[in-house]
Amino acid sequence: MSSRNLTADRRFAYALMLRRDGDAEAAADVLTQTLELVPDWPEGRFALAETLAEAGRKYDAIPVYEAYLALDPADSMGAAVKLALLTEVAPAAMPEAYLRRLFDEYAPRFEKALREKLLYRAPELLRAALDEVQPEGTFARVFDLGCGTGLAGVVLRERAAWLGGVDLSAAMVKGARDKNIYDVLTVGDMVAALNTMDEQCDLIVAADVLTYVGNLAAVFTAVRQRLTPGGLFAFTVQRHDGDGFVLGAEHRFSHGRNYIEALSAQHSFDVSVLRPAVSRQEKGVDVPGLLAVLRAN
Ligand SMILES: C[S@@+](CC[C@H](N)C(=O)[O-])C[C@H]1O[C@@H](n2cnc3c(N)ncnc32)[C@H](O)[C@@H]1O
Repeated sequence: MSSRNLTADRRFAYALMLRRDGDAEAAADVLTQTLELVPDWPEGRFALAETLAEAGRKYDAIPVYEAYLALDPADSMGAAVKLALLTEVAPAAMPEAYLRRLFDEYAPRFEKALREKLLYRAPELLRAALDEVQPEGTFARVFDLGCGTGLAGVVLRERAAWLGGVDLSAAMVKGARDKNIYDVLTVGDMVAALNTMDEQCDLIVAADVLTYVGNLAAVFTAVRQRLTPGGLFAFTVQRHDGDGFVLGAEHRFSHGRNYIEALSAQHSFDVSVLRPAVSRQEKGVDVPGLLAVLRAN
């Protein structure tokens, strides 16, 4: 991260060191001086907001996050999420630029981290649920939303005559492409991909993807329009025990069971499976989730 001003870069490095050593107040002072030299540097502004929040100065941090957003409206650092957590007003979804940056950076270590540290098993849970609901035959067209590096594709391939996938992150899609199991892969937003697709699908899956979207109405609408009658929508979400959806400190949304049931009814789905399931851990602890298979009626 460089501001292209040597003095500012030096001050910035010093501020980071102070912050690492636990002196967020002093770090915030140095960052404020740094920004006098480079007022339009988005990453510097973001770092100041982070540092103020870390120092417990929530009301000072909020306008600085807002100033960052004015400099980088695409929000590649994820300020909207931080603001949402500080103001306790959940946004409808994570900003695309933030997710792209997050997963582009995560891609090289994604599978190892998920499988070994987080004990990730959403693809296997989805496959088992699909085998229960529809034990026989292959699906003619399967589409994998937020396919990532293709872990769900691996377990679904043998049940799919045609398998497509989409993901926001080009680096994640490269991982999926290297597996040579998808018929078509695209980089982009899942709702846009569904809305521009020519053919109908008989299975659409989203393994650990809807956790990055709070309000799922647009996803449900787009999926329902793209499914053949009787087609299946299979996904995992993180669960919370209240209504609607909430945003967690780890920047992932959790959804209530009632919310999924209400959306299913609104979008003409029959619920074939909707049950508690754990598809990953966080810091060694099981994360409560829901496993769903809905049938378009
Ligand atoms: C935790 S990973 C899961 C990847 C894969 N489904 C799997 O089971 O390994 C979440 C993925 O969702 C993607 N994603 C999040 N929001 C998206 C959106 N709106 N459209 C497309 N992909 C999205 C991210 O880029 C990331 O690769």
